[in-house]
Amino acid sequence: MHSLTLLGIESSCDDTAAAVVRHVPGAAPQILASVVEGQTALHAAFGGVVPEIAARAHAERIDHCIEAALAQAGLPLTALDGIAVTAGPGLIGGVLSGVMCAKGLAAATGLPLIGVNHLAGHALTPRLTDMVDFPYIMLLVSGGHCQFLRVDGPADFTRLGGSIDDAPGEAFDKVAKILGLPQPGGPAVQAEAAQGDARRIPLPRPLLDRPGCDMSFSGLKTAVLRARDGLMAGLGGLRQQDRADLCAGFQRAVADVLTEKSRRALLDSGVAHFAVAGGVAANTEIRSRLLALCEGLGVSFLAPPLALCTDNAAMIAWAGIEQFRQRGADDLTLSARPRWPL
Ligand code: KG4
Ligand code: ZN
Repeated sequence: MHSLTLLGIESSCDDTAAAVVRHVPGAAPQILASVVEGQTALHAAFGGVVPEIAARAHAERIDHCIEAALAQAGLPLTALDGIAVTAGPGLIGGVLSGVMCAKGLAAATGLPLIGVNHLAGHALTPRLTDMVDFPYIMLLVSGGHCQFLRVDGPADFTRLGGSIDDAPGEAFDKVAKILGLPQPGGPAVQAEAAQGDARRIPLPRPLLDRPGCDMSFSGLKTAVLRARDGLMAGLGGLRQQDRADLCAGFQRAVADVLTEKSRRALLDSGVAHFAVAGGVAANTEIRSRLLALCEGLGVSFLAPPLALCTDNAAMIAWAGIEQFRQRGADDLTLSARPRWPL
């Protein structure tokens, strides 16, 4: 195995990112640079990511992010061993910006080009941060993703289950909207929940009693809406305590579902390592429940630092390193894929 230093490029949703990661065999991987430019402000007025605005912003900022990452790493492009880029799944305009840019750089420099699946990037992050051995179970929970993966190799993923409707982050965001809290909803709901009584308002735990690892969060969100309307009936608005109790009840329901389904994923697979990633993994109640579950089962619990759990390009560079070693490079016909199941 050789040392490898790769540039990673990520532009599949609403973050434009570039990073440089080096791996010397036998040593911990090093993130030499990681630059993430979020687009939250550009989309704020629209209540969600607008694909056309995202695509334009990626096209405008991607060169800048790459230059900034190379400057941070103190390396010229020619000192690298390859270019890894998210080739899907995601918003096609953004993915195309990244793939076209990576192809241009690869064509100009002759460097190998490696197309990476965005979800593989998230799923391999625990190896970047904790050098965990295969196999491990990965719970990806963010605004756009919700799935359990069994990870057996750099390109060997088995989906054990996932949400059949909304991702949990999406549910946190919608509940925040229903309760008049700011976006992103996760941190706002968590802060309110700290003042609330999780047991006061009964809320459903969808699919909890079904076998397997599938989950559903859309009905839970609707139940919060109904409960809110019930509590507001006859009043001008929602009382402070009612809002806090709804947040606490909702958060407890999500934590219950994620914890129980994680228990099943671990028991059914017999795997000894468990990792979480995605913005929702920042939730302190969810995190502590998952940690307690793992401690009880004697399973190691890995939660990469938040900056590497949410969208970034270091995970793409790292997945590129692992996959390049295993299968070599792609050629310049690499295409951008809006859908790309693992
Ligand atoms: O991974 P991420 O940054 O972006 C993608 O979805 O790709 O995740 C963002 C999501 C948002 O829905 C946000 O509300 C949620 O993660 N989130 C949280 C918390 N912090 C962020 N959800 C629950 N509790 C939190 N503390
Ligand atoms: Zn992501």
